[in-house]
Amino acid sequence: MMSSDEADDVLPREDEMLKTKKDKYKVIALLGKGGYGAVYSVLRMSDSEKFAIKCEKATAAKKVLLMDCNVMKGATQIKSRHFCTVLDRANVKDRFNFVVMKLIGKNLWDLRQDRPDGRFTLGTALKTAAQCLVSIEHLHSFGYLHRDIKPGNFAAGRKESNEHHTIFMLDFGLCREFVKRAEGKDMRAPRSTAPFRGTTRYAPLSAMLQQDQSRKDDIESWLYMVVEWTSGGLPWRKLKAHDREKVLQYKQDVRTKADILDDFFYNCPKKEFTRILKYVDSLGYYAVPDYKFIYYCVQHAATANKIKDTDPIDWDPDRPYYGPVEAPGDGKVIDLEVEGGASTKDFSKRHAKEKDTSEETKKAKKKTAPSTGASPNKEKTEIKDVKK
Ligand SMILES: Nc1ncnc2c1ncn2[C@@H]1O[C@H](COP(=O)(O)OP(=O)(O)OP(=O)(O)O)[C@@H](O)[C@H]1O
Ligand SMILES: [Mg+2]
Repeated sequence: MMSSDEADDVLPREDEMLKTKKDKYKVIALLGKGGYGAVYSVLRMSDSEKFAIKCEKATAAKKVLLMDCNVMKGATQIKSRHFCTVLDRANVKDRFNFVVMKLIGKNLWDLRQDRPDGRFTLGTALKTAAQCLVSIEHLHSFGYLHRDIKPGNFAAGRKESNEHHTIFMLDFGLCREFVKRAEGKDMRAPRSTAPFRGTTRYAPLSAMLQQDQSRKDDIESWLYMVVEWTSGGLPWRKLKAHDREKVLQYKQDVRTKADILDDFFYNCPKKEFTRILKYVDSLGYYAVPDYKFIYYCVQHAATANKIKDTDPIDWDPDRPYYGPVEAPGDGKVIDLEVEGGASTKDFSKRHAKEKDTSEETKKAKKKTAPSTGASPNKEKTEIKDVKK
């Protein structure tokens, strides 16, 4: 078996030139790395504009990039401002597949780490929470669950593109369609058991109990994430993936033990967050969450704490907040124009006829992009989906 370092040799190198049918892109720096591949910033040669590319190794057991593509296309269709659009894509034979997308800024994990006290101010936590909730409703509105809602999978836009206050949702590798599109958009029935997918720290109870997830579960993970931003750390923050049973116990205790609930909601607007927790827990698998109700609980927490719409956001303290202030929709699921089932087609096969797009494949130097850009302590997704 190859070591992961050897396996990473197939990934793009700094300064490597990547060619697609439309353009050429020069690799600048590594932004993040996961089990299946990595994300880099690149320069588009035709106009010197910066973009991001997400690469998936040709050998990756689970091809996640096609799911990323289909989800981003759905988001383009509904014109959501909380998603990056796919602008180009290609593959480098025997090395990796890649998609080109909008370059955005730091993820919400790193932005919290930048804070001196390890937490966002309440105003920032609530403004960011509201935007993330809207992005989740958008994703659900075209029929997908995220199943890996966590701070590393949301990021702020770039200052240079005037999107510094807009939150983007990322990483659709674990998404799953929850509707049967061919059958009048009925929901898929839950499987009797579903293997664990995602990240233990933020996973909803149903995932931890190996039950199929539904829309309410993305919201449960959203709440854990928002509480972490506000309090500075979840009570189970020291437990790792192999302690999943203990984390499950903690999450159950939050529901039954007042002292654990107090610890969980440390520094949080307890009244409003308890309402949200109780509401989410009251929903069943088939329920359409009332996103607007949750949104108004967040707004209420802001008003009760005298937070104004224009109060600056932590990562841009000198300017009034100009991020989108929009309420989520009502959860109605729309029709989607996608090219076939996302889970069945292999990305590399679609591009099999395209020639090798790397100009440097043959004269490849043993040089890897610096790893300084990736956040080392970020909670990693433990298990990616493996579909037959
Ligand atoms: N379009 C983009 N612009 C800028 N940075 C990005 C972009 N897409 C991803 N990133 C960065 O790369 C990181 C990893 O991206 P992503 O979550 O899509 O991949 P991943 O490998 O599945 O992550 P993980 O396995 O850690 O969950 C993100 O946390 C973010 O910091
Ligand atoms: Mg991720």
